[in-house]
Amino acid sequence: MQAQLVLLPGDGIGPEVAAEARKVLAAVAALYGHQFAFEEKIMGGIAIDELGDPLPDGTLAACREADAVLLGAVGGPKWDDPTAKTRPEAGLLTLRSELGLFANLRPVKANRNLLGASPLRSDLVDGVDILFFRELTGGIYFGPSGVSDDGREAYSTMVYSVEEIERIVRLAAEAARGRSGRLTSVDKANVLEVSRLWRRVAARVMQEEFPDVAYDVVLADAMAMHLLARPRDFDVVVTGNMFGDLLTDEASMLPGSLGLLPSASLGDPGPGLYEPIHGSAPDIAGKGIANPLAMILATAMALRHSLNLAAEAAAVESAVDAVLDDGLRTVDIAAGRPHVTTGVMGDAVAAALA
Ligand code: IPM
Ligand code: MG
Repeated sequence: MQAQLVLLPGDGIGPEVAAEARKVLAAVAALYGHQFAFEEKIMGGIAIDELGDPLPDGTLAACREADAVLLGAVGGPKWDDPTAKTRPEAGLLTLRSELGLFANLRPVKANRNLLGASPLRSDLVDGVDILFFRELTGGIYFGPSGVSDDGREAYSTMVYSVEEIERIVRLAAEAARGRSGRLTSVDKANVLEVSRLWRRVAARVMQEEFPDVAYDVVLADAMAMHLLARPRDFDVVVTGNMFGDLLTDEASMLPGSLGLLPSASLGDPGPGLYEPIHGSAPDIAGKGIANPLAMILATAMALRHSLNLAAEAAAVESAVDAVLDDGLRTVDIAAGRPHVTTGVMGDAVAAALA
């Protein structure tokens, strides 16, 4: 097949991990006879420096035309000035909303080879396999907000409509059907009106359209606790933008290696956005030691969800497993043992594909 891929390397270690993702995709294309055209665009801090805008028009336009968008990372201390007119993260929020990427999929899967890297006991995290569906274009991130004239009061509002709740719950429930058939919805319905609507709508969708999927609800604060105490009890989890932001950062610690977690943001219709969960890690940028596996696994999600290439996606995931089985480690997961560079890790995954 032919596909148009936009690459947004971004800031910090973004360009380093994006280069490895491109390498692996080129290997996939050669092996399976596909034509992937890559277009690189600036976004984030680098785009603020060059054009004064974290998401320049040319970048957004290219993304709209793409089959899939791959993002390295954005942000860094250089752009952290609270008085600045804009921030790299603002570009990401605009991109999500402009492309209508309402569903953020964050799989959190423990890798047997790396259980020791988790801050939690191995017996608790062994076998963890959770797929989060975080609503991404609504809620408190995008509700009415403002600050009073005297600057002594500010507000941000959590708003959800019936339609917004229905579409994310449907996607999550469909995914649950394809996995173990269990879905958990997380809200704060004991306090928030918006959560009470979320709970009513989710329950109706599940009852009417997914009677075959086992469904339960958990309060967000309790979920924060259960994720540490009994993470294996969860399969597919659906929640709003803010709770999803918090809970997926928490959950990312279960496998112990942030460098291994990809994420996909999907809209309907339009291209998906694929990125590692980790940030731009400015402290290690430019050293060639970043772990490219999360970015590589994000490309696997792109192959599966945007290009409909499930076999190729599975091949990339198996190749990552194979290099880890072989004992290859970047420094973040080496636990003091010998480690390889970003480039060697990318080469190894590409080679393991064949
Ligand atoms: C994430 C990040 C973003 C968010 C930031 C960078 C805007 O934390 O993708 O989870 O809050 O959504
Ligand atoms: Mg976050």
